[in-house]
Amino acid sequence: MSSLAKNYNRRKISFTRGKGSYLYSVNGKKYLDFIQGIAVNSLGHSNKYLIKAINSQANKVWHVSNAFIIPEGEKLAKRLTQKTFADAVIFQNSGAEATEVAIKVARRYFYSIGQKKKNRILCAKNSFHGRTLAAIFASGSKKMTEGFGPKVEGFDHFNFGDHKSLTKSISSKTAAIMIEPIMGEGGIKVIPDWCLKELRKICDKKKILLILDEVQCGIGRSGKFLSYEYAKIKPDIVPIAKGIGGGFPIGAVLMNKKVAKYMTPGSHGSTFGGNPLAMSVGNAVMDQIFKKGFLNKVQSSSKFFLKELNEIQSDYPNVIQEIRGKGLLIGLKLKVEQADFIKKLFDNKLLTIKAADNVIRILPPLNVSIKEIKIALNVLKKVCKSY
Ligand SMILES: Cc1ncc(COP(=O)(O)O)c(C=O)c1O
Repeated sequence: MSSLAKNYNRRKISFTRGKGSYLYSVNGKKYLDFIQGIAVNSLGHSNKYLIKAINSQANKVWHVSNAFIIPEGEKLAKRLTQKTFADAVIFQNSGAEATEVAIKVARRYFYSIGQKKKNRILCAKNSFHGRTLAAIFASGSKKMTEGFGPKVEGFDHFNFGDHKSLTKSISSKTAAIMIEPIMGEGGIKVIPDWCLKELRKICDKKKILLILDEVQCGIGRSGKFLSYEYAKIKPDIVPIAKGIGGGFPIGAVLMNKKVAKYMTPGSHGSTFGGNPLAMSVGNAVMDQIFKKGFLNKVQSSSKFFLKELNEIQSDYPNVIQEIRGKGLLIGLKLKVEQADFIKKLFDNKLLTIKAADNVIRILPPLNVSIKEIKIALNVLKKVCKSY
Protein backbone atom coordinates (compact mmCIF):
# COMPACT_ATOMS: atom_id res chain seq x y z
CA MET A 1 0.00 0.00 0.00
CA SER A 2 1.28 3.45 -0.95
CA SER A 3 2.39 5.83 1.78
CA LEU A 4 1.75 8.77 -0.49
CA ALA A 5 -1.28 10.92 0.24
CA LYS A 6 -4.15 10.37 -2.12
CA ASN A 7 -4.26 13.84 -3.67
CA TYR A 8 -3.63 12.46 -7.16
CA ASN A 9 -5.78 10.11 -9.16
CA ARG A 10 -2.87 8.15 -10.58
CA ARG A 11 -3.08 5.81 -13.55
CA LYS A 12 -1.82 2.38 -12.50
CA ILE A 13 1.32 2.37 -14.54
CA SER A 14 4.88 3.55 -14.06
CA PHE A 15 7.79 4.03 -16.38
CA THR A 16 11.41 2.99 -16.18
CA ARG A 17 12.77 5.21 -18.91
CA GLY A 18 11.95 7.66 -21.64
CA LYS A 19 13.51 8.60 -24.95
CA GLY A 20 12.34 11.53 -27.05
CA SER A 21 8.59 11.24 -27.56
CA TYR A 22 8.39 7.78 -25.97
CA LEU A 23 8.03 6.33 -22.48
CA TYR A 24 8.76 2.70 -21.60
CA SER A 25 6.67 1.10 -18.88
CA VAL A 26 7.82 -1.24 -16.11
CA ASN A 27 6.23 -4.12 -17.97
CA GLY A 28 8.13 -3.30 -21.15
CA LYS A 29 5.46 -1.49 -23.15
CA LYS A 30 6.24 1.54 -25.29
CA TYR A 31 3.96 4.58 -25.13
CA LEU A 32 3.87 7.65 -27.34
CA ASP A 33 3.95 10.35 -24.68
CA PHE A 34 1.88 13.32 -25.79
CA ILE A 35 1.64 14.64 -22.23
CA GLN A 36 5.37 15.17 -21.63
CA GLY A 37 4.88 15.87 -17.94
CA ILE A 38 2.11 18.36 -18.89
CA ALA A 39 4.03 20.58 -21.28
CA VAL A 40 7.23 20.30 -19.24
CA ASN A 41 9.63 18.16 -21.27
CA SER A 42 9.92 20.64 -24.10
CA LEU A 43 12.73 18.64 -25.72
CA GLY A 44 11.34 15.19 -24.96
CA HIS A 45 12.69 12.57 -22.59
CA SER A 46 16.41 12.01 -21.98
CA ASN A 47 17.54 14.73 -24.35
CA LYS A 48 21.27 14.21 -24.90
CA TYR A 49 22.10 17.91 -24.89
CA LEU A 50 20.29 18.47 -21.59
CA ILE A 51 21.91 15.39 -20.03
CA LYS A 52 25.32 16.71 -21.00
CA ALA A 53 24.53 20.15 -19.55
CA ILE A 54 23.23 18.81 -16.23
CA ASN A 55 26.09 16.32 -15.85
CA SER A 56 28.67 18.95 -16.62
CA GLN A 57 27.19 21.37 -14.05
CA ALA A 58 26.71 18.58 -11.48
CA ASN A 59 30.44 17.98 -11.61
CA LYS A 60 31.13 21.63 -10.82
CA VAL A 61 28.64 23.01 -8.30
CA TRP A 62 24.95 22.19 -7.71
CA HIS A 63 23.75 24.80 -5.33
CA VAL A 64 24.93 28.01 -3.79
CA SER A 65 22.83 30.58 -2.01
CA ASN A 66 21.43 33.65 -3.68
CA ALA A 67 23.65 35.51 -1.24
CA PHE A 68 26.25 35.14 -4.00
CA ILE A 69 26.44 35.96 -7.69
CA ILE A 70 25.43 32.93 -9.75
CA PRO A 71 26.93 33.29 -13.25
CA GLU A 72 24.66 30.62 -14.80
CA GLY A 73 21.61 32.57 -13.55
CA GLU A 74 23.05 35.87 -14.77
CA LYS A 75 23.45 34.28 -18.18
CA LEU A 76 19.93 32.84 -18.33
CA ALA A 77 18.35 36.09 -17.10
CA LYS A 78 20.28 38.06 -19.72
CA ARG A 79 19.09 35.74 -22.48
CA LEU A 80 15.47 35.89 -21.28
CA THR A 81 15.55 39.68 -21.32
CA GLN A 82 17.18 39.72 -24.77
CA LYS A 83 14.47 37.47 -26.20
CA THR A 84 11.42 39.06 -24.55
CA PHE A 85 9.85 42.33 -23.41
CA ALA A 86 11.51 41.93 -20.01
CA ASP A 87 14.24 43.99 -18.36
CA ALA A 88 14.65 41.81 -15.26
CA VAL A 89 14.02 38.28 -14.02
CA ILE A 90 13.45 36.59 -10.65
CA PHE A 91 13.97 32.82 -10.60
CA GLN A 92 11.75 30.38 -8.73
CA ASN A 93 11.14 26.64 -8.80
CA SER A 94 7.61 26.22 -10.09
CA GLY A 95 4.75 27.85 -11.92
CA ALA A 96 2.66 28.57 -8.84
CA GLU A 97 5.57 30.35 -7.20
CA ALA A 98 6.17 32.32 -10.38
CA THR A 99 2.54 33.49 -10.52
CA GLU A 100 2.64 34.42 -6.83
CA VAL A 101 5.77 36.48 -7.38
CA ALA A 102 4.06 38.14 -10.36
CA ILE A 103 1.30 39.21 -7.95
CA LYS A 104 3.86 40.43 -5.42
CA VAL A 105 5.66 42.48 -8.08
CA ALA A 106 2.40 44.13 -9.18
CA ARG A 107 1.35 44.99 -5.64
CA ARG A 108 4.80 46.19 -4.69
CA TYR A 109 4.80 48.55 -7.66
CA PHE A 110 1.64 50.37 -6.64
CA TYR A 111 2.70 50.35 -2.99
CA SER A 112 6.00 51.95 -3.94
CA ILE A 113 4.46 54.69 -6.06
CA GLY A 114 2.18 55.66 -3.19
CA GLN A 115 -1.01 53.94 -4.37
CA LYS A 116 -1.31 51.39 -1.57
CA LYS A 117 -5.00 50.80 -2.11
CA LYS A 118 -4.39 49.60 -5.64
CA ASN A 119 -3.70 45.99 -4.74
CA ARG A 120 -6.41 43.81 -6.26
CA ILE A 121 -5.71 41.39 -9.11
CA LEU A 122 -8.40 40.76 -11.70
CA CYS A 123 -8.42 37.21 -13.07
CA ALA A 124 -10.65 35.07 -15.29
CA LYS A 125 -13.15 32.85 -13.52
CA ASN A 126 -12.04 29.20 -13.61
CA SER A 127 -8.57 30.02 -14.83
CA PHE A 128 -5.49 28.22 -13.48
CA HIS A 129 -2.50 29.82 -11.86
CA GLY A 130 -1.27 27.03 -9.59
CA ARG A 131 -2.12 25.30 -6.33
CA THR A 132 -0.60 27.48 -3.63
CA LEU A 133 -3.04 29.40 -1.44
CA ALA A 134 -3.05 32.73 -3.26
CA ALA A 135 -2.94 31.00 -6.65
CA ILE A 136 -6.06 28.91 -6.01
CA PHE A 137 -8.01 31.99 -4.94
CA ALA A 138 -6.65 33.82 -8.00
CA SER A 139 -8.02 31.03 -10.17
CA GLY A 140 -11.58 31.66 -9.02
CA SER A 141 -12.50 28.01 -9.11
CA LYS A 142 -14.91 26.66 -6.54
CA LYS A 143 -13.50 23.16 -6.87
CA MET A 144 -9.90 24.15 -6.19
CA THR A 145 -10.65 26.38 -3.21
CA GLU A 146 -13.17 24.13 -1.46
CA GLY A 147 -12.06 23.44 2.10
CA PHE A 148 -9.07 25.74 1.92
CA GLY A 149 -10.56 28.87 3.42
CA PRO A 150 -10.39 31.44 4.77
CA LYS A 151 -10.37 33.04 1.37
CA VAL A 152 -7.15 34.76 0.36
CA GLU A 153 -8.35 38.26 -0.33
CA GLY A 154 -7.33 40.54 -3.14
CA PHE A 155 -8.72 38.81 -6.22
CA ASP A 156 -11.66 39.72 -8.41
CA HIS A 157 -12.99 37.70 -11.30
CA PHE A 158 -14.56 38.26 -14.67
CA ASN A 159 -16.20 35.80 -17.02
CA PHE A 160 -13.74 34.54 -19.64
CA GLY A 161 -14.55 35.93 -23.09
CA ASP A 162 -16.96 38.53 -21.71
CA HIS A 163 -15.65 42.00 -22.43
CA LYS A 164 -18.41 43.72 -20.46
CA SER A 165 -17.76 41.56 -17.41
CA LEU A 166 -14.06 42.41 -17.65
CA THR A 167 -14.44 46.18 -17.92
CA LYS A 168 -17.14 46.23 -15.25
CA SER A 169 -14.84 44.39 -12.83
CA ILE A 170 -12.01 46.92 -13.02
CA SER A 171 -12.16 49.23 -10.02
CA SER A 172 -10.00 51.97 -8.57
CA LYS A 173 -8.39 49.22 -6.47
CA THR A 174 -7.36 47.06 -9.42
CA ALA A 175 -3.58 46.77 -9.72
CA ALA A 176 -3.37 44.26 -12.54
CA ILE A 177 -5.21 41.94 -14.87
CA MET A 178 -3.71 38.45 -14.81
CA ILE A 179 -4.65 35.98 -17.53
CA GLU A 180 -3.34 33.00 -19.44
CA PRO A 181 -3.05 33.92 -23.15
CA ILE A 182 -4.01 30.31 -23.81
CA MET A 183 -6.03 28.82 -21.00
CA GLY A 184 -4.44 25.41 -20.43
CA GLU A 185 -6.12 23.54 -17.59
CA GLY A 186 -9.33 25.44 -18.38
CA GLY A 187 -9.70 23.65 -21.72
CA ILE A 188 -7.17 25.09 -24.24
CA LYS A 189 -9.03 28.32 -24.85
CA VAL A 190 -6.96 30.67 -27.00
CA ILE A 191 -7.37 34.40 -26.44
CA PRO A 192 -7.41 35.95 -29.93
CA ASP A 193 -4.67 38.45 -30.77
CA TRP A 194 -7.14 41.33 -31.16
CA CYS A 195 -8.40 40.62 -27.67
CA LEU A 196 -4.89 40.66 -26.15
CA LYS A 197 -4.27 43.95 -27.95
CA GLU A 198 -7.51 45.29 -26.50
CA LEU A 199 -6.47 44.12 -23.03
CA ARG A 200 -3.20 46.00 -23.35
CA LYS A 201 -5.11 49.14 -24.34
CA ILE A 202 -7.50 48.78 -21.40
CA CYS A 203 -4.56 48.36 -18.98
CA ASP A 204 -2.84 51.43 -20.43
CA LYS A 205 -6.00 53.50 -20.25
CA LYS A 206 -6.71 52.48 -16.65
CA LYS A 207 -3.01 52.67 -15.72
CA ILE A 208 -2.95 49.10 -14.45
CA LEU A 209 -0.51 46.27 -15.12
CA LEU A 210 -0.91 43.36 -17.51
CA ILE A 211 0.30 40.00 -16.20
CA LEU A 212 0.31 37.19 -18.76
CA ASP A 213 0.68 33.74 -17.23
CA GLU A 214 2.78 31.84 -19.78
CA VAL A 215 3.57 28.93 -17.46
CA GLN A 216 1.86 26.44 -19.78
CA CYS A 217 1.75 28.22 -23.15
CA GLY A 218 5.25 29.74 -23.03
CA ILE A 219 8.74 28.51 -24.02
CA GLY A 220 7.95 27.64 -27.61
CA ARG A 221 4.77 25.70 -26.86
CA SER A 222 2.65 28.05 -28.98
CA GLY A 223 5.20 28.19 -31.80
CA LYS A 224 6.63 31.48 -30.56
CA PHE A 225 8.95 31.68 -27.57
CA LEU A 226 6.19 33.42 -25.59
CA SER A 227 2.67 33.25 -26.96
CA TYR A 228 1.85 36.96 -26.54
CA GLU A 229 4.32 37.67 -29.35
CA TYR A 230 1.62 36.76 -31.87
CA ALA A 231 -0.38 39.78 -30.67
CA LYS A 232 2.63 42.09 -30.92
CA ILE A 233 2.03 43.56 -27.48
CA LYS A 234 4.24 44.02 -24.46
CA PRO A 235 3.00 42.78 -21.09
CA ASP A 236 4.37 44.14 -17.81
CA ILE A 237 4.92 40.87 -15.96
CA VAL A 238 5.10 37.28 -17.22
CA PRO A 239 5.46 34.18 -15.04
CA ILE A 240 7.00 31.19 -16.83
CA ALA A 241 7.94 27.67 -15.70
CA LYS A 242 7.33 24.17 -17.13
CA GLY A 243 9.14 24.14 -20.51
CA ILE A 244 12.06 26.35 -19.49
CA GLY A 245 13.49 23.52 -17.37
CA GLY A 246 12.80 20.74 -19.87
CA GLY A 247 11.92 18.53 -16.88
CA PHE A 248 14.04 20.20 -14.22
CA PRO A 249 11.96 22.40 -11.88
CA ILE A 250 12.42 26.04 -12.82
CA GLY A 251 10.04 28.96 -12.52
CA ALA A 252 10.72 32.58 -13.34
CA VAL A 253 9.06 35.95 -13.42
CA LEU A 254 9.90 38.27 -16.27
CA MET A 255 9.18 41.96 -15.74
CA ASN A 256 9.76 45.37 -17.24
CA LYS A 257 11.98 47.93 -15.54
CA LYS A 258 9.01 50.04 -14.43
CA VAL A 259 8.01 47.36 -11.92
CA ALA A 260 11.40 45.68 -11.42
CA LYS A 261 12.72 48.88 -9.90
CA TYR A 262 10.82 48.24 -6.68
CA MET A 263 11.93 44.64 -6.11
CA THR A 264 14.72 45.89 -3.88
CA PRO A 265 17.01 43.71 -1.69
CA GLY A 266 14.93 41.73 0.79
CA SER A 267 11.62 42.19 -1.06
CA HIS A 268 11.63 38.58 -2.25
CA GLY A 269 13.77 35.48 -1.97
CA SER A 270 13.97 31.75 -2.58
CA THR A 271 16.40 29.15 -1.27
CA PHE A 272 16.51 27.06 -4.42
CA GLY A 273 15.31 29.50 -7.06
CA GLY A 274 18.00 30.11 -9.67
CA ASN A 275 20.60 27.66 -8.41
CA PRO A 276 23.49 26.72 -10.73
CA LEU A 277 22.14 23.26 -11.59
CA ALA A 278 18.71 24.61 -12.60
CA MET A 279 20.20 27.56 -14.46
CA SER A 280 22.53 25.35 -16.49
CA VAL A 281 19.57 23.27 -17.64
CA GLY A 282 17.60 26.45 -18.43
CA ASN A 283 20.47 27.73 -20.54
CA ALA A 284 20.68 24.41 -22.38
CA VAL A 285 16.92 24.54 -23.13
CA MET A 286 17.39 28.08 -24.49
CA ASP A 287 20.28 26.87 -26.70
CA GLN A 288 17.97 24.35 -28.32
CA ILE A 289 14.82 26.46 -28.61
CA PHE A 290 16.71 29.32 -30.23
CA LYS A 291 18.59 27.07 -32.65
CA LYS A 292 17.90 28.28 -36.17
CA GLY A 293 14.60 26.90 -37.44
CA PHE A 294 13.48 25.29 -34.15
CA LEU A 295 10.42 27.49 -33.57
CA ASN A 296 9.57 27.44 -37.30
CA LYS A 297 9.50 23.67 -37.07
CA VAL A 298 7.16 23.82 -34.06
CA GLN A 299 4.86 25.98 -36.20
CA SER A 300 5.00 23.69 -39.22
CA SER A 301 4.47 20.54 -37.11
CA SER A 302 1.51 22.29 -35.53
CA LYS A 303 0.07 23.29 -38.89
CA PHE A 304 0.20 19.71 -40.11
CA PHE A 305 -1.19 18.30 -36.85
CA LEU A 306 -4.06 20.80 -36.62
CA LYS A 307 -5.02 20.33 -40.28
CA GLU A 308 -5.18 16.55 -39.88
CA LEU A 309 -7.03 16.82 -36.57
CA ASN A 310 -9.62 19.08 -38.15
CA GLU A 311 -10.14 16.47 -40.85
CA ILE A 312 -10.67 13.80 -38.19
CA GLN A 313 -13.11 16.14 -36.46
CA SER A 314 -15.12 16.62 -39.65
CA ASP A 315 -15.15 12.83 -40.20
CA TYR A 316 -16.28 12.16 -36.62
CA PRO A 317 -18.37 15.16 -35.52
CA ASN A 318 -20.25 12.98 -33.06
CA VAL A 319 -17.03 12.17 -31.21
CA ILE A 320 -15.04 15.42 -31.48
CA GLN A 321 -16.83 18.73 -31.29
CA GLU A 322 -13.92 21.06 -31.88
CA ILE A 323 -10.14 21.25 -32.24
CA ARG A 324 -8.55 23.98 -30.14
CA GLY A 325 -5.09 25.33 -29.58
CA LYS A 326 -2.02 26.96 -30.97
CA GLY A 327 1.37 25.47 -31.72
CA LEU A 328 1.72 22.18 -29.91
CA LEU A 329 -0.72 23.09 -27.14
CA ILE A 330 -3.69 21.29 -28.59
CA GLY A 331 -7.12 20.45 -27.21
CA LEU A 332 -9.85 18.17 -28.48
CA LYS A 333 -13.25 19.20 -27.19
CA LEU A 334 -15.11 15.93 -27.06
CA LYS A 335 -18.73 15.00 -27.41
CA VAL A 336 -18.06 11.62 -25.85
CA GLU A 337 -16.93 10.95 -22.30
CA GLN A 338 -13.41 12.30 -21.71
CA ALA A 339 -12.09 9.57 -19.37
CA ASP A 340 -13.31 6.83 -21.70
CA PHE A 341 -11.64 8.48 -24.72
CA ILE A 342 -8.34 8.94 -22.87
CA LYS A 343 -8.45 5.29 -21.72
CA LYS A 344 -8.98 4.10 -25.30
CA LEU A 345 -6.01 6.17 -26.49
CA PHE A 346 -3.99 4.76 -23.61
CA ASP A 347 -4.94 1.20 -24.58
CA ASN A 348 -3.51 2.07 -28.01
CA LYS A 349 -0.28 3.32 -26.39
CA LEU A 350 -0.94 7.02 -26.78
CA LEU A 351 -0.73 9.16 -23.63
CA THR A 352 -2.91 12.28 -23.42
CA ILE A 353 -4.35 14.21 -20.48
CA LYS A 354 -7.62 15.86 -19.61
CA ALA A 355 -8.44 19.54 -19.21
CA ALA A 356 -11.67 21.18 -18.08
CA ASP A 357 -14.65 21.53 -20.43
CA ASN A 358 -14.48 17.87 -21.58
CA VAL A 359 -11.26 18.59 -23.46
CA ILE A 360 -8.28 16.27 -23.86
CA ARG A 361 -4.90 17.88 -24.15
CA ILE A 362 -2.27 16.83 -26.65
CA LEU A 363 1.18 18.05 -25.66
CA PRO A 364 3.96 16.40 -27.65
CA PRO A 365 7.57 17.47 -27.14
CA LEU A 366 8.39 20.52 -29.26
CA ASN A 367 10.84 18.47 -31.33
CA VAL A 368 8.26 15.80 -32.20
CA SER A 369 8.63 14.29 -35.68
CA ILE A 370 5.91 14.21 -38.35
CA LYS A 371 6.21 10.42 -38.26
CA GLU A 372 5.28 10.42 -34.56
CA ILE A 373 2.41 12.83 -35.19
CA LYS A 374 1.12 10.46 -37.89
CA ILE A 375 1.23 7.55 -35.43
CA ALA A 376 -0.87 9.59 -32.98
CA LEU A 377 -3.30 10.57 -35.75
CA ASN A 378 -3.83 6.92 -36.68
CA VAL A 379 -4.58 6.05 -33.05
CA LEU A 380 -6.99 8.98 -32.78
CA LYS A 381 -8.78 7.88 -35.97
CA LYS A 382 -9.03 4.31 -34.71
CA VAL A 383 -10.47 5.44 -31.38
CA CYS A 384 -12.97 7.82 -33.05
CA LYS A 385 -14.07 4.94 -35.28
CA SER A 386 -14.79 2.78 -32.23
CA TYR A 387 -17.72 5.01 -31.18
C1 LIG B 1 -1.06 28.62 -16.55
C2 LIG B 1 -0.47 27.95 -15.35
N1 LIG B 1 -0.04 28.71 -14.32
C3 LIG B 1 0.51 28.15 -13.24
C4 LIG B 1 0.64 26.78 -13.12
C5 LIG B 1 1.25 26.18 -11.90
O1 LIG B 1 2.46 25.58 -12.17
P1 LIG B 1 3.13 24.55 -11.14
O2 LIG B 1 2.30 23.32 -11.20
O3 LIG B 1 4.52 24.36 -11.67
O4 LIG B 1 3.11 25.18 -9.81
C6 LIG B 1 0.21 25.96 -14.16
C7 LIG B 1 0.32 24.51 -14.07
O5 LIG B 1 -0.26 23.75 -14.77
C8 LIG B 1 -0.36 26.55 -15.31
O6 LIG B 1 -0.81 25.82 -16.32
